[in-house]
Amino acid sequence: MVLLPWRKYGHSTPWLLMALLVMLFRPHAVAGWSVLVLGGSGFRGHMTTEILLRSGHQVTVLSRGRPYWAILDKLGKLGMTLWKCNRTIVYDGVAGLQPNTSGLAVCSNLTSSTNKFDAVVDFSSKNAEDLKQVLRLLHNRVGFYIFMSNHGVYSVSINATHDGPLLESDAVRPGREVSPLDRFELKGQNPRGNDFMECEEELMRQYNAGGVPFTVFRLANVFGPKENTLRYWLLHLWIRAHVALHLPMHLDELLLETPISMTYSPDIAQAVARVLAKGLGEACCSEHVEAQVFNLACEEAPNQRNLYNYIAEPQGLNYVETTEMPRNKSIILYPEIVRGPLNTAKALEVLRWTPTDLQKAARSVARFYDRVMLDESKHRWERDVMYSKLKRMLGEDGPNFVSWTRAHYAERRKKELYDELDDEDEDDIVLFRPSPEKRGRRKRRKGAKSSPEL
Ligand SMILES: *[C@@H]1O[C@H](CO)[C@@H](O)[C@H](O)[C@H]1NC(C)=O
Ligand SMILES: *[C@@H]1O[C@H](CO)[C@@H](O)[C@H](O)[C@H]1NC(C)=O
Ligand SMILES: *[C@@H]1O[C@H](CO)[C@@H](O)[C@H](O)[C@H]1NC(C)=O
Ligand SMILES: *[C@@H]1O[C@H](CO)[C@@H](O)[C@H](O)[C@H]1NC(C)=O
Ligand SMILES: *[C@@H]1O[C@H](CO)[C@@H](O)[C@H](O)[C@H]1NC(C)=O
Repeated sequence: MVLLPWRKYGHSTPWLLMALLVMLFRPHAVAGWSVLVLGGSGFRGHMTTEILLRSGHQVTVLSRGRPYWAILDKLGKLGMTLWKCNRTIVYDGVAGLQPNTSGLAVCSNLTSSTNKFDAVVDFSSKNAEDLKQVLRLLHNRVGFYIFMSNHGVYSVSINATHDGPLLESDAVRPGREVSPLDRFELKGQNPRGNDFMECEEELMRQYNAGGVPFTVFRLANVFGPKENTLRYWLLHLWIRAHVALHLPMHLDELLLETPISMTYSPDIAQAVARVLAKGLGEACCSEHVEAQVFNLACEEAPNQRNLYNYIAEPQGLNYVETTEMPRNKSIILYPEIVRGPLNTAKALEVLRWTPTDLQKAARSVARFYDRVMLDESKHRWERDVMYSKLKRMLGEDGPNFVSWTRAHYAERRKKELYDELDDEDEDDIVLFRPSPEKRGRRKRRKGAKSSPEL
């Protein structure tokens, strides 16, 4: 909150104050964009939805409406419109895919609406059929399309002809110089990457035929608060416990030096806002983003061991024990793609996009998950899912691990002061706002009365 020195200005102050407040908090809504975010309440998309809503835009989210992490409640309070629909296109063994009678074709909120959208931000199309279906249903009703692709596209591309990180222009299918069988095999290297590549190709094909202007973002390993895959959270806890339990972190012996590109979910939101400003004509220049692809990732691309160090450091652990394991025995949550890392110079230059420093992002995420562990009043279901996943992942060490973890946090809950995790705290943590203590906000506190920290 900005404190205005309003005494100084005498009687006219309330008006001045009002004018300033209106300028500061002017709801863009008057002139805001109307945006449809597909998958906008999930792990990768919810920060984008939130930031668009907070900037005063009208946001409709189309998702399955799962209640993970109470994201829907939070976005609902911010004014989101929810269209709850299942995008899965039915596959009939005889007749094939049924895009006319399943998936979004039977999403009544979408099919009954005649709304036009300034933009669609698509976090949920996973293959060209999904994408074609949504483009068909929204034909001529969308001003700009942003598609979230994935670094997997590089795994189905020819080898880069330069050293160093991957450029956007490196995602190229092999041509006729390669035999049909080899081309086919390359697609099989990464079926998911191939699907994303087909989505990018479809957008370009339609654009060249007069279709919707678009931008593609290629994301790397996405991390942030409120995962539904629970990858980062599991590593966070494993690192926390591994020394005490003699369970060293696994390193895939074939990937020891492989650099891992990471994409922080709030950074995606920032990039979306930058592209929409250009694409919708509020900032120069739409041609900079139309039919363009941008890699999005943090600048740092650590190998596995260093990634563990990044996760450990904010937990106050300055040493991580590791053990090298054969590929098929190791529990490795990152990397999912071994071609990489990503060069992000284009997004930096063209969009003036600034990815969060990996260390800073890791600190925020650590703070978030630690708070989720300490504050038992919320997210119980997510914790239970995480514990059962941990058990499955660690096999016979699972039960021991879970009881150690429960005991560890129970102990800290007694000794430490911590804030209950409310929505504002979450934002403070994730968006690096000043700590609540500094803002002097009224806080409900839990934990011991006498903490040395404060
Ligand atoms: C989504 O639809 C598919 C196909 O009809 C179905 O198999 C699946 O169970 C549905 N998922 C949910 C979460 O309803
Ligand atoms: C879906 O509908 C379109 C036109 O309405 C038609 O051309 C197409 O063949 C249909 N596809 C299937 C799989 O039924
Ligand atoms: C979406 O559709 C459901 C059922 O068809 C309806 O109850 C709901 O009001 C619709 N939501 C919106 C935002 O239009
Ligand atoms: C890329 O290089 C690797 C080894 O350097 C080789 O095995 C692979 O066949 C190459 N792939 C393509 C598509 O050229
Ligand atoms: C794991 O890989 C090794 C060789 O790399 C092989 O001998 C072994 O059978 C594999 N184990 C499993 C469970 O696949």
